[in-house]
Amino acid sequence: MNGSDDDAVRLRSVSRRYGAGDGAVPALDDVSLAFPRGTFTAVMGPSGSGKSTLLQCAAGLDRPTSGSVVVGGTELTGLSERRLTLLRRERVGFVFQAFNLLPSLTAAQNVALPLRLSGRRPARGRVREALRQVGLADRARHRPTELSGGQQQRVALARALITRPEVLFADEPTGALDSRTGREVLALLRDMVDDTGQTVVMVTHDPVAASCADRVVFLVDGHVHGDLATPTATTIATHLTDLETPRP
Ligand SMILES: Nc1ncnc2c1ncn2[C@@H]1O[C@H](COP(=O)(O)OP(=O)(O)OP(=O)(O)O)[C@@H](O)[C@H]1O
Ligand SMILES: [Mg+2]
Repeated sequence: MNGSDDDAVRLRSVSRRYGAGDGAVPALDDVSLAFPRGTFTAVMGPSGSGKSTLLQCAAGLDRPTSGSVVVGGTELTGLSERRLTLLRRERVGFVFQAFNLLPSLTAAQNVALPLRLSGRRPARGRVREALRQVGLADRARHRPTELSGGQQQRVALARALITRPEVLFADEPTGALDSRTGREVLALLRDMVDDTGQTVVMVTHDPVAASCADRVVFLVDGHVHGDLATPTATTIATHLTDLETPRP
């Protein structure tokens, strides 16, 4: 794969092993991928295939055991924790599979947190707008325990959007949503790419959700196992069935 400055994120021969010796788990094994600027990529694959590990390595949240990750032209290998934190804050948004909201803060305070952490005073209108975009304008003062799972997931998305990141990584952002709310979230991600040229990388198990992307990358046992351009729910489902069919 040729690297280019048009890539928002580039991984070259990235491996991530957990543990050592016989018990070591190769969560990612020699993965090379590029996510071009202004594109929407879906990542699919069986449970345990390395999707969350891929996102966390690509976002600079986890360090690969070997290989190189470049975000917005900056090589992450060898960056100090401090530089890495700054880069994440300035360029990357991340929606965790397990939301990771702070329980003592309201929805609005959770959404404002990334701006506060970077020393910016969040304009109330901006927080309100982010909550409105995810359909939660009327839940600003609720704490996570007072919100449903799907509402917490949308607060996590609003929190990732508030800094207008160059790249948004979203780990199953529609996993806890009903189909209508899920469609609204997908339309929001699509608009980020089409209207403002942001880059989105989303993990999903849902072929319909993945069909909103420009490309689907499939992972199996920590390896890239093919990809599909301009996917449809049908071509995705067929590819998934092929992956799950044991080979003789
Ligand atoms: N902290 C860890 N320590 C040891 N092994 C881990 C750790 N995190 C993940 N793994 C292992 O790495 C592999 C990939 O995990 P990962 O979370 O990336 O999978 P996934 O594709 O996101 O799965 P799911 O669809 O269930 O979320 C799994 O076998 C998992 O058990
Ligand atoms: Mg996962």
